[in-house]
Amino acid sequence: MVTCESPIAVIDSGVGGISVLTRLWEIMPQENYIYFGDSKNAPYGVRPTEEIKRLTFKSAEKLIERGAKELVIACNTATSAAASELRIKYPDLPIIGLEPALKPAALSGGHPTVIVMATELTLREKKFAGLVERFRDNAEIIGLPAPGIVELVETSRADSPEMDEYLRKLFSPFDKEKEYCIVLGCTHFPFAKRSIRRVMGENVKLFDGAPGAARYAKKQLEERGLLRPDGQPGSIRFENSDENSIPLLKSLFESYEL
Ligand code: DGL
Repeated sequence: MVTCESPIAVIDSGVGGISVLTRLWEIMPQENYIYFGDSKNAPYGVRPTEEIKRLTFKSAEKLIERGAKELVIACNTATSAAASELRIKYPDLPIIGLEPALKPAALSGGHPTVIVMATELTLREKKFAGLVERFRDNAEIIGLPAPGIVELVETSRADSPEMDEYLRKLFSPFDKEKEYCIVLGCTHFPFAKRSIRRVMGENVKLFDGAPGAARYAKKQLEERGLLRPDGQPGSIRFENSDENSIPLLKSLFESYEL
């Protein structure tokens, strides 16, 4: 039986979901977390939808079987591919997904130009098409796949000359004098924030869906009476399908700038 002592499961295609785990930990430090990254199979974003669905179910069910009281899919790509089917199969489990924070960016005023950086899968799936449909009158919306960031973050190069070079090429079609809103629509991308600012300028406005998702995860537990009492020490177990990536999970968690 699930109780407030049961763990919160957090999954991602790899190390990116740590940018969500830090937000969860910030507002629920009394909880016990199991983080599972599937770095062996990352990147997900360039794979067919059915394959991502299968991989996401595999990671999720491994942790559900261990008695998780909530599942946080800390991955926009896995959310687009598998969240609705997971919710059908596990109707009693709160399942929190990540989606690109297009709403606050599009509604930030003055009909902004919004660049939504995400994986190819996120940009081609129904969930994103629905978001664009809702906010197309409020902003000019440009989808920009950036698979190279995932690879660089997975190999400890989130803040590196290689990242700067990759981003300089990626953003070369954009006018650096213009003010853009950039949506970080993949949980690996917040780790490239410094590099994005170096390339696009300090005034660029960045939008990340993780803080909102963390607040929603907390609300879901509150409503079910499943929050652990405040003041108790929480814990995090870091797991990965590629054992070699576990030190990177820990160091990204410890060094992440909120
Ligand atoms: N971190 C994932 C996301 O939020 C995807 C990265 C990948 O392609 O594996 O979309």
